[in-house]
Order: sequence, then C-alpha cells, then structure tokens
Amino acid sequence: MRQRLGALGVPVPDWAEVGDRSALASFLAAHGGAAVVKTPRGGYDGKGVRVVRSAAEAEDWLAAGPLLAEELVDFRRELAQLVARRPSGDVASWPLAETVQVDGVCAEVIAPAPHAGRLADEAREIATAVADGLDVTGVLAVELFETADGGLLVNELAMRPHNSGHWTIDGAVTSQFEQHLRAVLDLPLGDTSPVHPVSVMVNVLGGPAGARMPDRYPAALAAHPDVKFHSYGKESRPGRKVGHVTATGVDAPTTRERARAAATFFDA
Ligand SMILES: Nc1ncnc2c1ncn2[C@@H]1O[C@H](COP(=O)(O)OP(=O)(O)OP(=O)(O)O)[C@@H](O)[C@H]1O
Ligand SMILES: [Mg+2]
Repeated sequence: MRQRLGALGVPVPDWAEVGDRSALASFLAAHGGAAVVKTPRGGYDGKGVRVVRSAAEAEDWLAAGPLLAEELVDFRRELAQLVARRPSGDVASWPLAETVQVDGVCAEVIAPAPHAGRLADEAREIATAVADGLDVTGVLAVELFETADGGLLVNELAMRPHNSGHWTIDGAVTSQFEQHLRAVLDLPLGDTSPVHPVSVMVNVLGGPAGARMPDRYPAALAAHPDVKFHSYGKESRPGRKVGHVTATGVDAPTTRERARAAATFFDA
C-alpha cells in the first residue's frame, strides 16, 4: 500500500520496510527515536500496530517476518474521506469526517469534520486520485492524519464500506452500503449529500458482561427517541465492535453529547 501510494504522489508518513533489528534501529535513529511498526497482514482495530522506542520492542514481530516502520506522526486529529467509484469512472464523495481513535480503535466519527476549511477539498482530491489511480470499484475509505502544521498525510486505505462511513446510514441521502452495491453493479451513484447539518456516530464495544446490545434496546430507545441504534448481531467479546449509535443534529458539540449519552446504555 505504501509503495503504491508513493508512486501515485500521495502524501504519506515517512516509512521503510524493516527486516531485522538493525534496520529498525536505523529507522528509529533517523526519526527522533520513535516509530510505529505495523505487521503487513492481518491487522485491524489497532491489532498489529505498535509504537516502539527501541528495536527490541519489535523483536517478537520481526521473528515472523518484515514489518512496516513509520514515523510517529504528530497529528492534530484523524480524518477519513469516503468515496465510491464505479467501473465506468464516476467518483462520488461524502463530506470529510473526523474520526476519534481510542487505543487504536475507532470510538467516534463526526461528519462533516468541524472547521475543515480547505482540508475538505484536499482530502477529496487525494481520495479521488487514489480511487482513480488504483482503479477502485466500490467504496473506498482513506484514513488521514491532519498534521500539526495543517497538512494531510494518508494513514491507510480500506477498500470497502468502513466504520468511518456508518454515519451515512442515517445521515446521508445515500448510505455507503447502497453506494457500494450501486458501484459494483456500475449503476449511477447516489447523492452523497448529508441530510442533517451534523451526524455523530459512536461505536458500541463488547464488554465482559456479555450482554447483547438488543437486550438494552427498550431502555435506550425510551431515553433517546431521536437517536438511531444499530446492532450487528455479533457475539459480544471485550473490545469487539458489536454495534453503533448515530445522533443527527445542528451542531457538533450537542450532537456528540447526545450520541455519547445514548451509547452509555450499552456500557459493559
Ligand atoms: N504513523 C503513525 N503515527 C501516529 N499514529 C499512528 C500511525 N499509524 C497509526 N497510528 C495510530 O494507530 C491507529 C491504528 O492504526 P492503523 O489505522 O494503521 O491500523 P488498524 O489497526 O489497521 O486500523 P483499522 O481498524 O482502521 O484498519 C491510527 O488510527 C492512529 O491513531
Ligand atoms: Mg486504521
């Protein structure tokens, strides 16, 4: 992914493939003594991602094969640009979203990203260039860092409907799931306009109690008639994404508070 993005001229963090301790030590020395190492396969939700300050801290993973080492980006916030592309070439983009990660796992998404300004255009141009350059069919999420100096770097790509786009079910004319089907069938892409000024999605993670999300629907629905609840029907395991809630409203702070309050009904 990093090689292809580099070839497309898309801004990415400094990176290197490191096969052994000395290669990682050199990378650390050249990047202020800290790096993010990532396993090339199988990672998600922060699994396979580790911040290291010495090569020894990646010893176990290096034993299994080469790793991706990246500079530890000093970001202001994380953003995600969702687009969809159909084989005949049309690309549709939803508003840029802000994503909040806790322990490497997406916790909240705010759409549109507050105070995005020119970053909204830049993100759309980057995601469109990636979709065209990689000949993507379907939904593509481009995870981005907004750097301390106000620039954008691409973190990673997800070539599918993505957690950063779940808000579109309740908050956009066309959801990412409908759009994905439209795109793969090469049908006209739907309208990506938001239907409310702000949508905030909060993830529901499984906990040790093992309660299923729908068990708590009556209380949650009674308390929050204006919030939308989604359960994935998955077995609840600690830290596993088992559902989400979406609140829509007119301003980000109060909409976020409503979404957070509704999600607490499913706390373990
Ligand atoms: N180079 C970096 N510098 C700083 N933080 C980083 C860097 N790479 C990743 N992170 C942090 O770790 C999180 C998870 O990393 P990343 O998105 O690469 O992996 P993932 O676990 O596969 O995520 P996903 O579930 O989105 O696929 C990022 O959202 C970000 O908060
Ligand atoms: Mg990610």
